Amino acid sequence: MNYTEVLENAKKKIGPKCKVCPVCNGLACKNTLPGPGSKGPGNGANDNYEAWHKIKLNMDTIVENTAIDTSTSLFGRELAFPLVSAPIGSIRLQYNSEDDVRDFNEKCMAACESRGILHFYSTGLEESVHNSAIQSRISHGNNGIPVINPEADENIIKQMTRCHEKQSPLAITVVVDSAGLPHLKECHGSGGTKSVEQLRALKEEAKVPFIVKGIMTAKSALKAIDAGADAIIVSNHGGRVLSDTPATAEVLSEIADAVSGRATIIVDGGIRSGIDMFKAYALGADLCMICRPVLISYYGGGQEGMECYFDKLKAELVDTMYMCGARQISDISRDMIRM
Ligand SMILES: Cc1cc2nc3c(=O)[nH]c(=O)nc-3n(C[C@H](O)[C@H](O)[C@H](O)COP(=O)(O)O)c2cc1C
Repeated sequence: MNYTEVLENAKKKIGPKCKVCPVCNGLACKNTLPGPGSKGPGNGANDNYEAWHKIKLNMDTIVENTAIDTSTSLFGRELAFPLVSAPIGSIRLQYNSEDDVRDFNEKCMAACESRGILHFYSTGLEESVHNSAIQSRISHGNNGIPVINPEADENIIKQMTRCHEKQSPLAITVVVDSAGLPHLKECHGSGGTKSVEQLRALKEEAKVPFIVKGIMTAKSALKAIDAGADAIIVSNHGGRVLSDTPATAEVLSEIADAVSGRATIIVDGGIRSGIDMFKAYALGADLCMICRPVLISYYGGGQEGMECYFDKLKAELVDTMYMCGARQISDISRDMIRM
């Protein structure tokens, strides 16, 4: 199966809300929420996508012709390349009423396991989603990291306890920005935004490295670090929680400078290729996270479709590193890009 076939197959299965564009840029689906699109006037997803393309690459081919090594690690876990797939809480709500996010999580963890990367899974809105994701995580080499919505703290703690029941995950993530999702507001109950003190208490409960998802300013990054976050995810939820925020590519370097190595930095939002990934590492990210195209690849070919997309990303990253003079991920530096 090649990526063109994956996209052709996806068109037949994904339902009317996603148009399976040649590149997923948030234009054809703008203003479809619930659905894959973005909030308000619907510019958020496209702004994320466009920002990566304003950054250009500086070629440097006067370097030794040695092999490219894309390996890296997260909290001691070896990764074949610096990519993770993003959490998706529901596909029934967003795509077709008969779709099942449990099947997506199972196949995505299998694809990630076979390609040496990790899947961040949403604990979802139903208990059965979380329970089945734990089962998938355990049967696929503990390669899933739970992402818990900003619910009431006691519910988060209950979900953390459940995460540890059979085998502790590598880390636990709490997402703070989905407090702004219009269709989730009702489900959050007494949840929503979190104070530094609340996050600090949740970090204590996590008992494994603690990740905060949904950071868009240096100020918020420093608050997350103050609360004890071991990693942050620079994300505006793919433009789905507030319109007219900057793109993640626009804020990444200032956040990385403020964090200054005190926490691992993961970034998502409009990253579609290994070239975009290279730019993100040059701006200071340790790992990239991708959502919508991974889901499109699931619709286009299940586990094989997602493996095909991951292989494409890795090959593009290797090519970009080769042409810009980087031989390992730690070689990638800001002087390799032009803003
Ligand atoms: C259909 C859909 C469902 C999502 N569900 C969740 C979720 O449950 N939890 C979460 O933290 N992020 C969720 N997200 C946000 C993604 O994890 C990610 O942050 C965002 O889509 C940006 O990446 P992208 O531009 O690669 O899609 C969802 C995104 C989409 C499109």
